[in-house]
Amino acid sequence: MELFLKNRTILLGVTGSIAAYKAADLASRLTKAGASVDVVLTEAALKFISPLTFSSLTGRKAYTTQDVWGDGEHVLHIALARRADLLLIAPATANTLSALAAGQADTLLTMAALAATCPLVFAPAMDAGMYEHAATQANVDTLVSRGAYLIEPAEGRMASGLIGRGRMVEPEEIVGHVRLVLGRDGDLAGRSVLVTAGGTREPIDPVRAVTNRSSGKQGYALAQAALDRGATVTLITAPTSLTPPIGARVLHVERAAEMQVAVLEEAKSADVLVMAAAVSDFRPASSAEQKIKKNGSSLQIDLKPTEDILKAVAALRKNTGFPAVVVGFAAESQDLLKNARVKLEEKELDLIAANDISRTDAGFAVDTNQVTLLNNKGAEELPLQTKAEAASDILDRVVELLPGSKTDEL
Ligand code: CTP
Repeated sequence: MELFLKNRTILLGVTGSIAAYKAADLASRLTKAGASVDVVLTEAALKFISPLTFSSLTGRKAYTTQDVWGDGEHVLHIALARRADLLLIAPATANTLSALAAGQADTLLTMAALAATCPLVFAPAMDAGMYEHAATQANVDTLVSRGAYLIEPAEGRMASGLIGRGRMVEPEEIVGHVRLVLGRDGDLAGRSVLVTAGGTREPIDPVRAVTNRSSGKQGYALAQAALDRGATVTLITAPTSLTPPIGARVLHVERAAEMQVAVLEEAKSADVLVMAAAVSDFRPASSAEQKIKKNGSSLQIDLKPTEDILKAVAALRKNTGFPAVVVGFAAESQDLLKNARVKLEEKELDLIAANDISRTDAGFAVDTNQVTLLNNKGAEELPLQTKAEAASDILDRVVELLPGSKTDEL
């Protein structure tokens, strides 16, 4: 499990909505990601779910307004507010939004919210019509104008059976927003990072294609890692079965030529390009309009080379200076370092991550990777680690290479 919330304390406010049951999953996910989660329930939330549910999941006491008057922690609402890195209210009812906007302090949650100086993230949940009501919208606007981060509710079927906007988004997505907000001041804040991922697909006919075994996992992990550090991220992805990270701008492509057009367009304004996609080197010379029928004899498919996207980027860079840093990958089944160094030079890269694809625990489709990073100064072998950890190590080097970084003059 990736501990991306290690050393973070999240104050989770749970209010009285049927979506409170989802807050249990949320508390569990935040805890598993390494966060210390303090949960505060409102009186109405207690009708739906118990503090014991949360204390069992977080391993910490879950609080109610009753605790304000107890002899537990000294000035409880201040203690909770002070130790929080982020206040997350999910689900946030219309009533709580109204209280927050008005600055009321009549429950432990609203008292802590007034005392908190950390970012506030809120995920509204209410039945059809209530979210759209002018009063609620005004409260939401007030909170957003004060710097709070809104997780817009989704449309769907409500507890009442009505259809409308007001469903709290799923916990997994909320965690993505939390990551985004916590990453805002990271060492890639203000930088734009372009990542490519997945294996391109070159059609033979309407049902068949030439493709490769890339799962896209390393590229998606790089996009997430860049978001965690505050970058603006564009992810150009070939088809994968993965969910893109929250906060990334996602462009879907299939063929190498489509990826090339998208990369060259986006690279013009990117500070960093990480080319993690496995781009097809060959494409069928022509793609049949109708499904090719079998007739018992063998079939020849004429394959033509595709263009090398990184070489086209090198040409763009000579003219524009963008992207400032370009990172490639090298998938090799033999002579790893020798072949990777040739690619580093021929593609004019700042850094290349070399992958030995003959290993079963690294490279294609698995969750772990073992890469060796090469630049014009030397090679650094990284340990076998998760793709998230490998992504973080690669971005450490990228940060050092960026002009204006503290270390680029060394
Ligand atoms: N790449 C690219 N355009 C291509 C093929 C690859 O930009 N048409 C990029 C990949 O995204 C990767 C790097 O080049 O960052 C190296 O890809 P790899 O498949 O290892 O090498 P190739 O250049 O395709 O060479 P070979 O297949 O002969 O090893």
